[in-house]
Amino acid sequence: MTVFQGHEQVVFCADEASGLRAIIAIHSTALGPALGGTRFFPYASEDAALADVLDLSRGMTYKNAMAGLDHGGGKAVIIGDPRMDKSEALLRAYGRFVQSLNGRYVTACDVGTYSEDMDHVARESSFVTGRTTSHGGAGDSSILTALGVFQGMRAAAERVWGAPTLAGRTVGIEGVGKVGHRLAELLTADGAALVICDIDPEAAARVAERHLGTVVVPDTAALIASGIDVYAPCALGHALTDEVVEVLRAAIVCGGANNQLAHPGIEKALAARDILYAPDYVVNAGGVIQVADEVHGFSMERARARAEQIFETTRRIFALADGEGIPPAVAADRLAERRMSEVGRLKGIWLN
Ligand SMILES: NC(=O)c1ccc[n+]([C@@H]2O[C@H](COP(=O)([O-])OP(=O)(O)OC[C@H]3O[C@@H](n4cnc5c(N)ncnc54)[C@H](O)[C@@H]3O)[C@@H](O)[C@H]2O)c1
Repeated sequence: MTVFQGHEQVVFCADEASGLRAIIAIHSTALGPALGGTRFFPYASEDAALADVLDLSRGMTYKNAMAGLDHGGGKAVIIGDPRMDKSEALLRAYGRFVQSLNGRYVTACDVGTYSEDMDHVARESSFVTGRTTSHGGAGDSSILTALGVFQGMRAAAERVWGAPTLAGRTVGIEGVGKVGHRLAELLTADGAALVICDIDPEAAARVAERHLGTVVVPDTAALIASGIDVYAPCALGHALTDEVVEVLRAAIVCGGANNQLAHPGIEKALAARDILYAPDYVVNAGGVIQVADEVHGFSMERARARAEQIFETTRRIFALADGEGIPPAVAADRLAERRMSEVGRLKGIWLN
C-alpha cells in the first residue's frame, strides 16, 4: 500500500525516447538538501515503485539526521531492468530532471546504479555525488557502508557479550554483494567465522574462496537455521518478517540492507525474543557519509573518521533504549527527530 508520510515533494519523470520512467521523492529538507541514491529496479508496477521510493526517502531523512549530516532525506527510483534498459541517454535524461529540482535533491548510487552511471547523470546535473574517482568523485560508497556496519556490530557485540569484537563469533551474511563482501573482509580480519548465502552463486563462491572455512548455504532460511550468533542482512529490504523473527536464534541483527523491518512492530517482536537489533539506517550510514563528503570536496580520511563514529552512535542508541525501556529502533527515531527539530528550527533565524 502506498503511504505518503509527510513527503514534501514527489516528482514523476518520463522521457519516451530513452525509455526513462522515474520517480524522485523528497521526504524532508528540514536539515538541508535532500540526499539519497537512485535505485534502478524492474518494479512490477508504478505503484510498487512509488511505495518503495516513499519508504526509502523517509528512511534517508532519519539516516541523514542520525549521521549528523546537513542533509534532508530523498530517494529516486528508475523503473526498469538495469541490465537491459540502462543507457547513456536514459541516465542523462534522468540527470536533467534531477537538475530541474535546482539542488533540492542530490542523487547518488543505490541498488542497480554505479559510480560510472553517476558520471553520466553528472553531465546534466550539478547535484550528483558518488561519481568515480577519475571524475572527482568519492567512488564506491560500499567501502564505508561496510565499515559502518562493522562498527555498529562491534557496539552490539559489546552490549551483548561485554567486548567490542566479533572474534570467536559466527556471523551469517545474507547477500555478499558490494557491501556484504566487504563486511566479510572486516569480520574475518576481526576473527569471526562466516556463514553466507547469495542468490548469485558466483558472488558466494568468490567470498568462500577468499575466506577459507566460510560456510555457503543455499538460502536465507538455511542461514537463519544454521546457529549463527549474528544475522547480517545485506541483500534487499524486509529481511525481518514475523516468520524470520520467530525462528531466528542469533543474539544480534546488524546488517547493511535498508528497511530491514518488514512492518512496524517487528522491533518489539525482536526485543521480546531478546534479539538486539542495531537499527539499519544507523549502521549503514557510512555510504551516505562518504557521498555527502563529496559534495564539499572529498576527503577519504575525514569520511572514514566520521563512519567510524557509527560505533559511538550505536552505543548511544543502545544506552537510550536501555534507559527508557524501548527498542533500539524507537530510540534511534527519537534521536533523529530530536536533531531535526532542534537543528531544523534554526532556519527560522532570518539571515539577510
Ligand atoms: N552500497 C551502499 O553503499 C549501501 C549503502 C546503504 C545501504 N545499502 C543497502 O545494502 C544492501 C546491499 O547493497 P549492495 O550495494 O551491496 O547491493 P548489491 O546489489 O551489490 O548486493 C546485494 C547482493 O545480495 C544478493 N541478493 C539479492 N537478493 C538476495 C536474497 N534474497 N538472498 C540472498 N542474496 C540476495 C545479490 O545477488 C547481491 O549479491 C541494499 O539493501 C542497499 O540498499 C547499500
